Amino acid sequence: MIGKHLLSMDQLTKEDIIEILDTAESLRQVTDRPIKKLPTLRGRTVCNLFYEASTRTRISFELAAKRLSADVINFSADSKSSVSKGESFKDTAWTLEAMGVDAIIVRHGSSGAPHQLAKWVKAHVLNAGDGAHEHPTQALLDLFSIRERFKEFDGLKVAIVGDVIHSRVARSNVKGLVTMGADVTLVGPATLIPKEARSWGAKIEHELDPLLADLDVCYLLRVQKERQNEQLFPSLREYSNLWGLDNRRMSKMHKDALVMHPGPMNRGVEIAADVSESERSIILDQVSNGLSVRMSLLYLMLGGNEGEDS
Ligand code: CP
Repeated sequence: MIGKHLLSMDQLTKEDIIEILDTAESLRQVTDRPIKKLPTLRGRTVCNLFYEASTRTRISFELAAKRLSADVINFSADSKSSVSKGESFKDTAWTLEAMGVDAIIVRHGSSGAPHQLAKWVKAHVLNAGDGAHEHPTQALLDLFSIRERFKEFDGLKVAIVGDVIHSRVARSNVKGLVTMGADVTLVGPATLIPKEARSWGAKIEHELDPLLADLDVCYLLRVQKERQNEQLFPSLREYSNLWGLDNRRMSKMHKDALVMHPGPMNRGVEIAADVSESERSIILDQVSNGLSVRMSLLYLMLGGNEGEDS
């Protein structure tokens, strides 16, 4: 059973993940109806509290909450908010809680910010990405997207390629995929793979080409130029030559193998434009599935009897 908050993939068992994915599968039918709403969260208020930029995660949480009939507040910590006047994270959280929010979806540049928030407020907290730490809802929508194509995770060969060191998506995905029984390999230059990655349950390789023929999923990570404080590889051109997925590399993958990317993409760096738009790419399915998975989480976490929450 999922707890009161969703902070990390660490807290989810295989059974929890299956429950979330199965519920998302049922809720997806709502999206196909002419009237795309369920009354489950009528009278509840969900707040998107975003201290970092987002397109997919913020919009899909907003839409997911609205599809379940919740009221939604969108808060961006920008020049229009009192954060620009120096208001602290804690005071902002308490202010939102004083207005009666039931759930806070938080994205923050600092690892651990959602854990801190969960200690300050009575509302449910859902981690929408914290620094280079975790992005659990991204991992869950990725698991949903993989299960849609392969049905079983046991022994599935997944390579997560590129800027692992800065990637909360990689951390959450490795945890989720390993929990579900997949065989995960992290691939990239040694400078972009953190030393502690050996303890995550994934293999580590530095060359992509020898792995391609055997892969079921090639998951490309965005090169996070904004988080690179030092030169970790010679140039974007060299990175693309060695680790980017272009048509030549993709042709070495077997015909049912999938190409995934969490977005936003650096086309021409980690993924060639034609690969991102190819039949093997399920990048837009990942986005669509994010809505069902986030509906599932809000439904399971807020839709029941509050007295049962831990
Ligand atoms: N994948 C992802 O988190 O995208 P956004 O930054 O657009 O939310």
